[in-house]
Amino acid sequence: MFLPVAKIQQLNSSAFRMLRPLALALAYLASSHLVAFATETADPDRGLDLLLNKPYIPVAFDQETFDDVWRSWEEPLRSQARDANADERRRMAFERYGLIERENDPQHRPVQYVVDKAGDWSMNCLACHQGSVAGKLVPGVGNSQFALETLTHDIRNAKLRLGKRMTDLDIGSMVMPLGTTVGTTNAVMFGVALMHYRDNDMNLLSKRLPPPMTHHDHDAPPWWNVTRKQRLYSDNFAPRGHRGLMQFLASKENGPEKFRQWEDDFRHIEAYIESLESPAYPFEIDRALAQQGRVVFEQSCAECHGTYGADGGYPERIVPIDVVGTDPVRLSALTPKHRLSYQTNWINEYGERGDVIADPGGYLAPPLNGIWASAPYFHNGSVPTLWHVLHPEERPAVWMRESNDGYDKRRVGVPIQITDAVPAAVNAASRRRYFDTRKFGKSAAGHDFPAALSGSERAAVLEYLKTL
Ligand code: HEC
Ligand code: HEC
Repeated sequence: MFLPVAKIQQLNSSAFRMLRPLALALAYLASSHLVAFATETADPDRGLDLLLNKPYIPVAFDQETFDDVWRSWEEPLRSQARDANADERRRMAFERYGLIERENDPQHRPVQYVVDKAGDWSMNCLACHQGSVAGKLVPGVGNSQFALETLTHDIRNAKLRLGKRMTDLDIGSMVMPLGTTVGTTNAVMFGVALMHYRDNDMNLLSKRLPPPMTHHDHDAPPWWNVTRKQRLYSDNFAPRGHRGLMQFLASKENGPEKFRQWEDDFRHIEAYIESLESPAYPFEIDRALAQQGRVVFEQSCAECHGTYGADGGYPERIVPIDVVGTDPVRLSALTPKHRLSYQTNWINEYGERGDVIADPGGYLAPPLNGIWASAPYFHNGSVPTLWHVLHPEERPAVWMRESNDGYDKRRVGVPIQITDAVPAAVNAASRRRYFDTRKFGKSAAGHDFPAALSGSERAAVLEYLKTL
């Protein structure tokens, strides 16, 4: 067995000193072998198991707090919860916060949190990255019902009532918005805030002043498209890699050694992400109409979005912001400086992973596999259905999801109610259920390309999109 490199560097006996270069070389070889071994055996099932069961960030709250959270609710919900039994109350809480219960789990834990034996809950990646469509869990779809801000707010009140200790998130969320609309989060700025306090080796820089930030909400993209791309994120700036997946863990409790220790876990998690396939449309499709739509799509959309089927090709094209015309806030909120600091960080293997695109100038035209399932659309989640993507002139200014389990088969996407404005009298939790496209970072404008098509061409493309 070889000694670890660090141990060998400490050895100082004169006899050993002569052998030291050789021992070091062997140790490096052995460790690089270990890396290669780990990569070869990266196991998707293990990845999913880690996501569900291994806590990587500090405990958010305990079971007792969660069981009491209903007392934080507004009326009449609170009275309904008081009169309900424990199972019903839990169902109400899961629905309010966008949590999905694990299958056949006697403890009734959600998919989106790791809950340990002591009943302590920590958020996992699936909080934002595992949702449901038409009432069914679809592996890898973003959680378009996650109400992080409402959950955090309600939990904070429950902790005050119960005299429990506040976490950094409880306190931080009083100054930093977590997500002003249900289903979207300020995740990109969480990344900026976390990485601001790290040097290139992921050492903590706790003395720094807080960074300037442009808060805005983002819709979590489906994970099954990651394998179709070389790079990540809506502006396509970052090379793919398992370390890149670890940014979310950079809370101050996790020092640089944790990142090195957990690296292999994230090879498994990456393997899980890359094993996911887009789900097939579960309802009826008019195949003849879809075939007509394919022809239109290949003329009008494929140059940006690629082609589909066995011989499909994908150009991974970034479209300049003035051409696509969708909301520009996400693009400018992440500055060239942010992107360049990612380049030289351990997270990007100090540049070995490839170069970042410091100034992408626009958004990626994403792959459209499984697009029927990943509503709402565009990077900010501002457009509720594919029909609305195809009819730019008819996109609602303010909309609200009508039901958690419903699905709009006619317009293909989230079933909605449309209103003129968010009612002034509603409380904060209800207000977050409205998507107001007039708010900062939430515009549903742009991507006017389908406007060049006739009504029947758009109907055909809509049918075709169901088949991808
Ligand atoms: C608070 C919500 C949230 C959490 C928690 C979260 N993500 Fe994300 N994730 C997002 C959002 C939003 C984006 C899109 C950001 C963008 O494109 O700028 C994203 C993007 C990604 C992407 C890129 C997808 C693509 O197609 O480009 C990957 C991969 C990913 N996340 C993995 C993870 C992993 C692994 C974890 C856990 C360690 C995690 N995320 C935790 C919200 C979250
Ligand atoms: C010039 C390039 C270009 C053309 C042509 C184009 N798109 Fe797009 N499309 C984009 C870009 C860029 C985005 C991402 C916009 C954003 O998220 O802000 C996008 C987003 C989308 C989305 C939402 C994807 C998601 O995951 O939210 C759909 C659906 C879509 N396009 C369909 C089409 C269809 C159908 C056509 C043809 C009628 C088409 N596009 C033509 C560039 C293009």
